[in-house]
Amino acid sequence: MTAQQELERELSYRLTQQGWLSELSLVALENRDMLAVLQEACRLVAAGLGTRFAKVLQFLPAENQFLVLAGVGWKPGVVGVAKIPAGLDSPAGYALHAGEPVVSEDQSREKRFRFPQLLIEHGIDRAINVIIRGADQPFGVLEVDSSGDRQFSRHDVDFLQSAAHMLAAAIERQRADELIRENGERVRLALDTGNLGSWQVEISDWTLSCSDACKADFGRQADNEFTYNDLLAAVDATDRRRLRRAFDSAVRKGSEYDGEYRVDWPDGSEHCIHMRGRAIRGPDGVPLRMLGITQDVTQRRRVEKELADYRDRLEQLVAARTAELKRSEADRRRTQEALHQAQKMEVVGQMTGGIAHDFNNLLTVMVANLDLLTDLTAGSERARRLIDNVQRAAARAGQLTSQLLAFARRQTLQPERLDLNRLFDDFKGLMRHASGNAVQVIMQPAREPAICDIDRGHFEAALLNLAINARDAMPRGGTLTIEIGAVELGAADVKEITEVVPGRYIEIAVSDTGSGMTPETIERAFEPFFTTKEIGKGTGLGLSQVYGFVKQSGGHVTLRSGLGHGTTVSIFLPRSPVAAPSEATVPAAPPADVRGTGTILVVEDDDDVLEVATETLTELGYSVLVARDGPEALAILQSNEALDLLFSDVVMPNGMTGMSLARRARRLRPGLKVVLTSGFTPRDLSAHDVPGSEFQLVGKPYRRAQLAEVIRATLASPPQVAGTSDPTRHSRP
Ligand SMILES: Nc1ncnc2c1ncn2[C@@H]1O[C@H](COP(=O)(O)OP(=O)(O)OP(=O)(O)O)[C@@H](O)[C@H]1O
Ligand SMILES: [Mg+2]
Repeated sequence: MTAQQELERELSYRLTQQGWLSELSLVALENRDMLAVLQEACRLVAAGLGTRFAKVLQFLPAENQFLVLAGVGWKPGVVGVAKIPAGLDSPAGYALHAGEPVVSEDQSREKRFRFPQLLIEHGIDRAINVIIRGADQPFGVLEVDSSGDRQFSRHDVDFLQSAAHMLAAAIERQRADELIRENGERVRLALDTGNLGSWQVEISDWTLSCSDACKADFGRQADNEFTYNDLLAAVDATDRRRLRRAFDSAVRKGSEYDGEYRVDWPDGSEHCIHMRGRAIRGPDGVPLRMLGITQDVTQRRRVEKELADYRDRLEQLVAARTAELKRSEADRRRTQEALHQAQKMEVVGQMTGGIAHDFNNLLTVMVANLDLLTDLTAGSERARRLIDNVQRAAARAGQLTSQLLAFARRQTLQPERLDLNRLFDDFKGLMRHASGNAVQVIMQPAREPAICDIDRGHFEAALLNLAINARDAMPRGGTLTIEIGAVELGAADVKEITEVVPGRYIEIAVSDTGSGMTPETIERAFEPFFTTKEIGKGTGLGLSQVYGFVKQSGGHVTLRSGLGHGTTVSIFLPRSPVAAPSEATVPAAPPADVRGTGTILVVEDDDDVLEVATETLTELGYSVLVARDGPEALAILQSNEALDLLFSDVVMPNGMTGMSLARRARRLRPGLKVVLTSGFTPRDLSAHDVPGSEFQLVGKPYRRAQLAEVIRATLASPPQVAGTSDPTRHSRP
């Protein structure tokens, strides 16, 4: 064969092989089934090389073996089943690991490799093995085999190698397709699971394509047309501007886009749609489209809002409850303090009252004996002077006891109906005098009548005490204001004040611009004997008198003061509905002759007082019968003993007061004259049940002249019918 002929033959052979390769590439392109492609490839290369046998060996790395994946020429039960070793000592194994084609010409003379049993069984003695590469590791080997005298040329090897490259590419593409398909599936699954719609907008012409789920988020059916403009129109007008801005910015910057918008569905319902997306750029960096997802978050937002509202409400409730607790705790503490204060005053009051009562009896004895002594020592000027001194001291002591009794609320009060405004007028001069020249006094009466049922003398004493305190607090002068007004105290106002009921009151506020008090002084100011004044200046009984008098009159008193800010003491007295009598009561005329005649039953539990009373009355010319308590007196009253007058102490042992004794005496002997005597009013008698309103009363300690006058006047008065009272003024020591 000439060189020319040789060249022509090779050319034609190459062209033929090229034809086979093109066919193979077509098969690979058109066929989606990988196994079919491999099978077809085996057929084509076998035909191309003019052999009967070809196969694709897939490398199984875990087993270091090959699986005969596809092939032609083999006995049944080989393709898809048979495995051959992949060690370096086999031609296929070597081709795979070395990455080079292996051509075995003659099996019987082959020194490098051992031919696998499968080839020997098929009578094969020649083979070419070429590697089929993969992306990260080799896929396997493409092998053609023959028996007989078929010689493989370098062109045959090239042909096979090209076929193997083509297969590798086809396998790779197939794998990539699979991956894309898998990813697509995964994305769909994710969208479905997350209830997400997906959308895509082409930036060139704003066409929108979207999933059914996305349409559903806008209230549309799967078969409804839904354009980008429809989407924009569905969004609430304000939110639409926001959406456009966000979208434009994402396109411009190629960034992500994320927002929530109010969307109106065609059925009229309002929804909250979450949209999220990203710009996709072309190879030149120009944004091509926006890709994204949608989600209906209406329900979630509603639940979140409800939760937030609930949390807010809860927080408000907690805050309100805490405030209430704090308030009630503060209330409780204040009430407790008020109670504590009231209890303290009560205890001190009881003690003071007890002492004052005993002291009064002692004074009564002293004063009466002094009077008797006066008679005995008549003629001695020196004795009279001495006795007078003692009488004056006793009178002072009497005043002190009366203040103590006032604090203990055991004064014998003689309430009268008074208009405090009018009382004020009478009182102005005294107040000005009491407060001193340096102090300016402003008195402001109430605009309406200020009517109260109170004891005039004690009320005046209280005001005087306050005026003197104010004066003492303003040594360099200042202003004293006394203001009267009508007030209504509600349940809340009197909540913390013991023994005070809601209702109408007259308030007398006494204010000064003086030194004021420290909190400690305020706390103790009403206590008897509490004073901050130097010895001899104050007894500490002024405010005690005010307190006791006001309390006993059914009112209460408050104190407001601060160091350097002056002081206001407010007295609240129950307001009476009826007007006061226009005429002031005129004091009784002084006595003329004090001696008298008749029989008097004296009832007194204190022996000394009894003795001195008996002696005084006997001296005054009366016959005297004595009893030491109620039952003893009743026995005499029930006897035939002639009697003109009952003179009894009010507070007595053995269960009967002077009051009840007097009432029973009146029943036993109608028209019997009665005079009662007392140092204080028993607690269990109300202000309207005081002895003075029903019977004639003489306060302890009494002077002889005073007693003589009361007894005489009572005996001279017309007989009284039980139950009606003679408003003769009560006689005070
Ligand atoms: N208007 C006031 N300004 C400043 N402190 C006052 C005022 N009123 C009373 N106080 C204080 O309260 C204390 C008690 O007063 P209270 O009137 O009971 O007794 P006193 O004035 O000290 O003595 P007394 O009134 O028996 O002469 C006073 O010592 C004083 O410290
Ligand atoms: Mg005082």
